[in-house]
Amino acid sequence: MTDVAHPLTELLCCPRCTRGKLALDSAGWSCATCGSGFPVVGAVPWLVREPPESLAEWRTRLGFLTRQLRDDAARIERELATVSEATPASDRTVQRLVRQSDACRDQAVRIEKFLQPLVLPGVLAPVQRGLGTAMPSEQGLTNYYVNLHRDWCWGDEENDASLTECRALLGNGPALGRTLILGAGAGRLAYDIHMQLEPSLTIVSDINPLLLFAAREMFAGHELQLYEFPIAPRAPADVALLRTLRAPQSARAGYHLIAADALDAPFASNAFDTVVTPWLIDVVGEPLPTFAARINQWLKPGGRWINTGSLAFNRAAFADRLSLDEALSVLVTAGFAPPELREATIAYMRSPASRHSRLETIVTWSASKRAQVDPPAPRRLPAWLTNSTMPVPRTASIEFESVSARVHAFLLALVNGERSVNDMARLIVEQRLLPADAAEAAVKRFLRRTFDASEQRDQY
Ligand SMILES: C[S@@+](CC[C@H](N)C(=O)[O-])C[C@H]1O[C@@H](n2cnc3c(N)ncnc32)[C@H](O)[C@@H]1O
Repeated sequence: MTDVAHPLTELLCCPRCTRGKLALDSAGWSCATCGSGFPVVGAVPWLVREPPESLAEWRTRLGFLTRQLRDDAARIERELATVSEATPASDRTVQRLVRQSDACRDQAVRIEKFLQPLVLPGVLAPVQRGLGTAMPSEQGLTNYYVNLHRDWCWGDEENDASLTECRALLGNGPALGRTLILGAGAGRLAYDIHMQLEPSLTIVSDINPLLLFAAREMFAGHELQLYEFPIAPRAPADVALLRTLRAPQSARAGYHLIAADALDAPFASNAFDTVVTPWLIDVVGEPLPTFAARINQWLKPGGRWINTGSLAFNRAAFADRLSLDEALSVLVTAGFAPPELREATIAYMRSPASRHSRLETIVTWSASKRAQVDPPAPRRLPAWLTNSTMPVPRTASIEFESVSARVHAFLLALVNGERSVNDMARLIVEQRLLPADAAEAAVKRFLRRTFDASEQRDQY
C-alpha cells in the first residue's frame, strides 16, 4: 500500500525553523528538520512558531473575556438596583438592563463552551490578571467580533459587495488554483471564494481562535448561537440579540483551516497560485514593503495577490502610513507587475439592530508576481526571551517602569477601605516620597485615575 501524502504537505513549512517540511501524524503536525511539534486544537492545526506560548496567551485572554462578561453582568445588576429604587416609571430601563445582564452571563457560558479547548483550568488568578497578555491589544478575541454577525447573519449586502470586488478582478483571469486566504477572520469571503470561484484548494487562515472556530462551524454547515451587542442599539431589545449564525450550505470539500501568524507563517515558498488578504495589510503590524515580500515568497511565478479592504495605516510609524500611490509602487518593488485596481465605497458593519455603521472606500488589487524577491529575514526575538537562562537586561525604561510600579503598589496597598485621602497623604510624607504640600493633590490624582481605569473595558 502506498502512503498518500496529506494535501497540505507540499504547501507548508515549519514556522519555527522556516525550512523543514511538516507532516501529520496522530500527535499533530511535526517538522522533519527541527523536530518541532504543532498541535491540532479544536480540529484546527496550530501552526505558529511557539504553540505553547500562543495557546497560553489565548487561554488567558479567554479567561479575561469571560470574567469581564460576568463582571459586566454583576455591574449591570448593581445599577439595576439603583434604577428600580430611584425611578419606578423606568420599566423599559429595567427590562433593558435585565436583558443585558442575562445576555452577558449567557454569552460567557456560550463562549466557554464554544472555545472549550482554550478554557483555563480553574479561575483566573490575580497574578495572571496582573501579568496580562503579550499580544497587541488590537488583536484580542473580540476585536473583530461584529464580523461574525456580519459574515454569517445579517451582512448579505456587505458580503456580496466584497465578493463582487474580488470577482471583478479574478473572474476573467486564470483559474484560482491553490489559494491561501490570509487573515480570513470569521471566513465569509473565504467561503464565498471557495464556493463560487472554485479554487482547486483553499486554505483559510487566521490568528484568532474565536473567528477560526466559527469559520470551522460555518464551513461544516453547522449553526452557532452567540449574542450581538450593538454599539448603538435601535430599540431597547437590541442591546443584546441572540443571533443564529449559519452558512447558506456546508462548504464543498477542498478547504483547510489553519491557525497561523501571517508574520511567522507556515507556508512554503512558491506554493500558491493565489493569495488573498482581505482587510489585513493595515492591521497586520508590519510595514507593507516587508509584508509584500512575504506574499511574493508564497506565490508561484505568475501567481496573483488579491488584496481587498481599507488602507488605514494610522497605527503604523508615520513613514509607513502609505497613500494608495505609495502602496502601488511598493508592490512593484516587491516583485509584482503594476496591479489591476478597483475602488468602491461600501457599507461597513451595518447591523439592522444598530444606528452605528460606516462607509469605507475600499481598494481591491490583483497583482501578478513577475519576479522573485528576497524573503524578509525571519523575525527574531531577543536572546533573553528565547533562552530562559539568560539575564534580562535592565534598560532605563525598565528602571522607570519599576519605580512607578513600586509607587503604585505602595499607594494601592494603602487603600484598605478605612483610610482617607489625608491619611494616605500623611503616610506618603512620612515615607519621604513627596513633600507635604504636594502629597494630598497627588493622592487624589492617583486615586481618580485608578478608579477610572477600573471602570474601563479592555479588549481581550
Ligand atoms: C480587519 S479583520 C478582517 C477579517 C476578515 N478578513 C474580514 O474581512 O472580515 C483582520 C483579520 O486579520 C487577522 N490578523 C491580524 N493580524 C494577523 C496576523 N499577524 N496573522 C494572521 N491573522 C492576523 C485578525 O485576527 C482578523 O481576523
